[in-house]
Amino acid sequence: MTELLRLSDVTRTVHLPDESDLHILTGVNLSIASGDHIGIIGRSGSGKSTLLNLLGLLDKPTTGTIEWDGRDTRDLSSRQAARIRGRDVGFVFQQFNLLPGRTALDNVAAPLMYAPGRAFWNRREIAAEMLRRVGLAARVDSMPESLSGGEQQRVAIARALVRGPKVVLADEPTGALDVETGAEVMQMLDAVTYESGAALITITHDIAIAQMARQRFRLEGGKLLSVAEATP
Ligand SMILES: Nc1ncnc2c1ncn2[C@@H]1O[C@H](COP(=O)(O)OP(=O)(O)OP(=O)(O)O)[C@@H](O)[C@H]1O
Ligand SMILES: [Mg+2]
Repeated sequence: MTELLRLSDVTRTVHLPDESDLHILTGVNLSIASGDHIGIIGRSGSGKSTLLNLLGLLDKPTTGTIEWDGRDTRDLSSRQAARIRGRDVGFVFQQFNLLPGRTALDNVAAPLMYAPGRAFWNRREIAAEMLRRVGLAARVDSMPESLSGGEQQRVAIARALVRGPKVVLADEPTGALDVETGAEVMQMLDAVTYESGAALITITHDIAIAQMARQRFRLEGGKLLSVAEATP
């Protein structure tokens, strides 16, 4: 298993308008390799989305280092970070964020507009194959508005994976779904990501969803605790 991401003593502090500092992350260590499925739980406000933004190169740590494929991300320009993000990171959110009035196929093909060569020219075939893999072969021409929440999240998963990312970051992917649909969608996300060889990081409030991950952590007090050592 190749190590993709390594976080060493990562902190994230924001300066508030009243001049105080909010220490959101106070020392996070984490190693992520291809094929991993890591589940992170934590209360609202514990810093889960802040951590996800760091993993997706949308934000930089205040102190500490994040290495991506062995390279210190502090050395990346914002253009280089954006290129890595577009090619190697897939995002799945609670609100599916699909383009309304565009078919499922158009939604899934959209990230390939920025892909080089073959992937660009074959984008409709690649998107259709991706929709088939998430069980939506019959719905390629459907608009998001006509799909159920679970189906919309499957389209969003197909879109996140269509460029063959190395890391898939899911922020409350089942938060807008009922328990049963959420579990089905999560199984799909896990299976499709695993088949593709990418790492999956799932952030959730839901312990049942986190338990589907092979490694589990709790974000508490700005630190990542492996679930065995976290307070219940
Ligand atoms: N740029 C910012 N400026 C000020 N405060 C921020 C900023 N980003 C995050 N915070 C604060 O840091 C804390 C952690 O935020 P974050 O969004 O990471 O929490 P979360 O664990 O994802 O919560 P939720 O489960 O509700 O989504 C919150 O108190 C939030 O208000
Ligand atoms: Mg959040």
